[in-house]
Amino acid sequence: MAEGFTLFLLSGMLMCGLLLHTVSQHGANVDKPSKKPNFIIILADDIGWGDLDANQPEEKANNTPYLNLLAEQGQRLTDFHSPASTCSPSRAAILTGRYGLRNGVTHNFAVGSVAGLPLSEVTLPQLLQKAGYYTAMIGKWHLGHNGPYGPINRGFDYYLGIPYSNDMGCTDLPGYNLPQCPACDSSGPQVIRLKRSVHGGCYSKVGLPLIENSSIVEQPLDLWTLTEQYKSTATRIIRNARYNTRGQPYLLYIALAHMHVPLAPPLPPEVSAAGRRPDDSKVYTASLREMDSLVGAVKSASDDTDKDNTLIWFTGDNGPWEQKCQFAGSVGPFMGKWQTSRGGGSAKQTTWEGGHRVPTVAYWPGRIPANTSSSSLLSGMDIFPTLLSLAGVTPPSDRRYDGIDATNILLHGEQTGHEFLFHPNSGAAGTFGDLQTVRTGKHKAFYITGAAEACGGATRRQQLHDPPLVFDLERDKPEETPLEVETPEYQTVVEKITRRRETLLWDIATDKSVSTADYSTDASAAPCCDPRQAVCRCHTQR
Ligand SMILES: *[C@@H]1O[C@H](CO)[C@@H](O)[C@H](O)[C@H]1NC(C)=O
Ligand SMILES: *[C@@H]1O[C@H](CO)[C@@H](O)[C@H](O)[C@H]1NC(C)=O
Repeated sequence: MAEGFTLFLLSGMLMCGLLLHTVSQHGANVDKPSKKPNFIIILADDIGWGDLDANQPEEKANNTPYLNLLAEQGQRLTDFHSPASTCSPSRAAILTGRYGLRNGVTHNFAVGSVAGLPLSEVTLPQLLQKAGYYTAMIGKWHLGHNGPYGPINRGFDYYLGIPYSNDMGCTDLPGYNLPQCPACDSSGPQVIRLKRSVHGGCYSKVGLPLIENSSIVEQPLDLWTLTEQYKSTATRIIRNARYNTRGQPYLLYIALAHMHVPLAPPLPPEVSAAGRRPDDSKVYTASLREMDSLVGAVKSASDDTDKDNTLIWFTGDNGPWEQKCQFAGSVGPFMGKWQTSRGGGSAKQTTWEGGHRVPTVAYWPGRIPANTSSSSLLSGMDIFPTLLSLAGVTPPSDRRYDGIDATNILLHGEQTGHEFLFHPNSGAAGTFGDLQTVRTGKHKAFYITGAAEACGGATRRQQLHDPPLVFDLERDKPEETPLEVETPEYQTVVEKITRRRETLLWDIATDKSVSTADYSTDASAAPCCDPRQAVCRCHTQR
C-alpha cells in the first residue's frame, strides 16, 4: 500500500515542497533582498560525461578551463541524467518537468514536422514569463517550428537559433561530419525533399535556417559564424538585463549547437595555415574548447552584471553520438560494456549510462557552496521544479510532474535526489518512450537493452530481459557484469523496482493531463524563406 501511495504523495510533496519553500523564503527574506534570481540554462548537445575535464582530473586534459572554473566556484553534479537519450524528448522533459509518456514527446521531430511539443503542455518559460520574467532563448529548439509551436509562442520573449539539429539542413561550407556532407546545391529548381539524400544521410535540399523570433533571417546559415552570433547575443541579453527599466529578472536558455556534428570549430593556427583539411583528430577538441570559451563569455558577462543573483546551470541533452567516431565525445568510464561486447554502441540513443549521464555544473556565487560536488541522483527534469521554486512560482496542479525540487541539494549540500529514476527509450529500436531502465541507489535495472549504431556501423537489436538485468554502478561503472539473479541483493532490488515501475505506469495512466504529440510531416512544413530559390536561399539584414 505504501508504494501505491508514494508516487501520488511525491507529486503532492513536490507541490508542498514548493509552497513550503515559498513560505520559508518569505520568512528568511528579512536579511536578503527580495529580488527574484536570474537563471541561465546552458544545454550542450551530444556532450559526453568525460568531456568535462573536472569529471576526470586524472586524465589531465585541458579542454574545458572555463567549465572547470565554473565547477571550482560552484557545484559539480556527478550523477545527473538527461531525461532522455535524444534531442526532442530530452528538451521537452526539461521544459515541462515530465516524462515523455506524459508530455507526448518520445522521439525527434523532423524538418517537415507540422507540429511539436503539444500545446496542452505548460513550459518553464511560460510560467516564468507570467511571473514577470524576461525570457530569452538562444540555440536549438527542436520542439516544433511551425506557428504556435515555435519558441516565441511557448513562453519566450526573444529567440535566436536553429529550429532543429545543425545536421538537418545543408550549408554552403559544410562542417566536419562522418561522412562529409555535401554543400547546398546552388542551382536547379527548388524541390523540398524531406528524405535525407543518398549522400551518406545528409540533407542537401533544405538549407539550415537561422530564426530570429518567428522569422527566418539567414538560410542557409553559415555554420562557421554561429558561435559568434550566439556569443554576442547572449552577452548582449545579459548586459541589457541590468538596464531593464521594468526591473525584470530573466531566464536565458542557451541550447548550444556544440557538440553536435557537423562541427565547425576555429582550428589551431598550424592547421589553418597549412590550408588543407586538418587532422580530423583535432576537430572535436577544438570544438570543445570553442564551446568552453562560449560558456566562459556567458559567465563573465553574468559576473560583471548581476553576479550574486544569477544561477548558471550547465548540462547536456544526451550522451555522445558514437557513430560519428572521432567527431563524438567521451563517455568517460561509462562504456556500456555489456552492450559493446555484444555489438553496437552504448551512448546517445541508448539507456546505457553513456546515453544519459551528462556533465553538469551549477554556479551561483554566494548561494551554491563553491568547489563542491554532489552525487545525488538527479535529472534534467528537475530544472523545472527547482527554478520555479527559487522564483516562488507554483506550477499548475492539474497535472503530475516527474522532476524534483533540487534546491536543498544545490544550496544546502543535502545528499538526497530521486529515489527512483526511469530512463526512456528514445532512439533505439522498440517502443518510443518505454521506461526501459530504472535507477535506484547504486543499482540500475534493464527490462530492455538496445544499442545505437557504433563507430563502424555495428548495431544490435533490442532484447527483452525477464527477469531484468541489474548492475551495481558503484562497483561496475562500465555496466559490464550484471548481478547474479539468485543473490538476495538482486532479489531485493528487483522487487523494489518492479513495484515502483507498476506504480509509475499507473500514475501516468491516471494523469488527467497526458498529451499526445502529432508527429505527422508534410513538405510544406519545412521552414523555407523563399520557395522560388534553390535551398530556400535568402539573407536579411539584421
Ligand atoms: C525580435 O524581437 C526583438 C524584440 O524582442 C526585436 O528587437 C527584433 O527586431 C526582432 N527580430 C525580428 C527578426 O523580428
Ligand atoms: C577545490 O577542491 C580541490 C579538491 O578538494 C582542491 O584541490 C582545490 O585546491 C580546491 N580549489 C579551490 C579554489 O579551493
